[in-house]
Amino acid sequence: MNDTRSTDVLIIGAGLAAMATALSLPEHLQIDMLCKGNVHECASAWAQGGIAAVLDPADSIEVHVNDTLIAGAHINNKDAVRDILAQAPAAIAWLIEQGVAFDLQDDGSTLHLTREGGHSQRRIAHVKDRTGLAVHEALLRACRARTHIRIHESHAAIQLLHSQTDSASTCFGAWVRLPDGRVTTWLAGHTVLATGGLGQLFSRSTNPWPATGDGVAMAARAGCSVQDMEFVQFHPTALQIDGCAAGLITEALRGEGALLRLPNGERFMLRHDARAELAPRDIVSRAIHAEMQQSGLAHVLLDITHQPREWLTAHFPGVTQLCADHGIDIATQPIPVAPCAHYACGGVRATINGCTDLHNLYAVGEVACTGLHGANRLASNSLLECVVMGRGAAQVITTSAPVNDTAQSKLLMRSMQSPLLDLAQHSPIAQVLAQLMEECAGIHRNQQGLSQTARQINAWQKMLGTSDPALSNRLEACSLIVNAALLRTRSCGAHTRTDENSEESMQHEPEMT
Ligand code: FAD
Ligand code: SIN
Repeated sequence: MNDTRSTDVLIIGAGLAAMATALSLPEHLQIDMLCKGNVHECASAWAQGGIAAVLDPADSIEVHVNDTLIAGAHINNKDAVRDILAQAPAAIAWLIEQGVAFDLQDDGSTLHLTREGGHSQRRIAHVKDRTGLAVHEALLRACRARTHIRIHESHAAIQLLHSQTDSASTCFGAWVRLPDGRVTTWLAGHTVLATGGLGQLFSRSTNPWPATGDGVAMAARAGCSVQDMEFVQFHPTALQIDGCAAGLITEALRGEGALLRLPNGERFMLRHDARAELAPRDIVSRAIHAEMQQSGLAHVLLDITHQPREWLTAHFPGVTQLCADHGIDIATQPIPVAPCAHYACGGVRATINGCTDLHNLYAVGEVACTGLHGANRLASNSLLECVVMGRGAAQVITTSAPVNDTAQSKLLMRSMQSPLLDLAQHSPIAQVLAQLMEECAGIHRNQQGLSQTARQINAWQKMLGTSDPALSNRLEACSLIVNAALLRTRSCGAHTRTDENSEESMQHEPEMT
């Protein structure tokens, strides 16, 4: 353990939720933003389809709410759904103020809105099929233009600093691994978790490498409640090259008419759901998975060859390029696709302003769970949630008392029994763990596979102790998913129990659903 640093607001993460928070805080606060790799390696920068918002007079918040509840199997937090979706038009206006140039209709009068699965209306504001990149670049430029915001690349938080004072628990910073491997104590008046998702806990994922669930693991260890961890959403159409996920093929492609087919050309989605290719994601993912299993396929095909080349390159330059890089001409060839781990619907329980169970600790974006998504996220609702939560958390921070210096040093003395960090690398365990998660906690789950995975995770946790904090965080996040999946014995949304009617599954009946 080395030097101690301090700041007014420590933001762990540098994606959209982090930057929306930072840019909404007043300039007299010093803000330090951390990211595990480089600043571009985050889901926000990789987002394709766009951001959902009611912007068309023919649409309404009520209809958007209804679509969100249907996708989420009605176990969403209805107040959170209403409050977040009602703020969507303001969130889009704020992004435009920050310099995001959303695509316009041909006559330039209003935003061009596209459509995605589960949406009954066109309501996705976008920048071609590279929305995330455009948003992330604009916000990064705005952050870099402000001297009170500092971004630290290759700085990984490994543990939250927290302590019990009177009857409440307070967070006052984090232990952070520096690029040279040393660990520093970073004290903060307010700490914001914006660490994103956990898709990389599975062997096939659309997520960037830092998405290993660190935030939810650190928060759970610090005593925060977590919620809905069993609901890991699989995106139906990740590009498949040599049996590996090679990138995302945006759902907007199906929104604009792409069809799912078997290798013999047969269209199969209508056999599974009347909404066909535009059914919510969990349904399309399960349908593809079932077809692949039934016919022993490594992937199915997504066909947009009915659209002319010029239209494809104008509307989907990102997908066209991604496929061309792998030798696929989407104007003439169908795209090999299969479902891959994509989004964590659950996470650290938080209000829509990011408040958690710990004083001075906020969780924003994908790491948090407001209940907006319920059992399965409606496409393009998550970038929206990042903006709404980031702006809301900034308001709370601005009007709340920070943990002061004297309190911080007292708390630090009390919590200095730090883990011994030899930073051992146990990467083979991470790989086996990801394979196990894919097989036993993936699209299909049952009691036997989940229990076996839980036992293995437990054994690794005992063996490793605190010797490798990064791996410990992975194991903790997997354990949260697997144990939540064991408790929910019936299928719901993105969580499918193949044994839901068997006696064995009933041994883990949840206390509440
Ligand atoms: P991220 O943008 O993932 O940022 C997380 C940050 O935390 C990163 O900077 C990372 O380095 C950092 N971090 C992680 N762990 C640590 C640590 N221990 N210490 C320090 N830093 C850490 N949603 C939509 O609404 N519309 C879309 O079109 C869309 N398309 C998508 C396409 C893809 C390929 C993917 C993967 C996701 C997509 N999503 C989309 C989901 C959406 O992009 C994410 O939910 C959202 O960007 C999450 O933002 P975030 O700020 O919470 O996290
Ligand atoms: C996509 O473009 O298909 C991803 C949209 C999302 O994850 O919300």
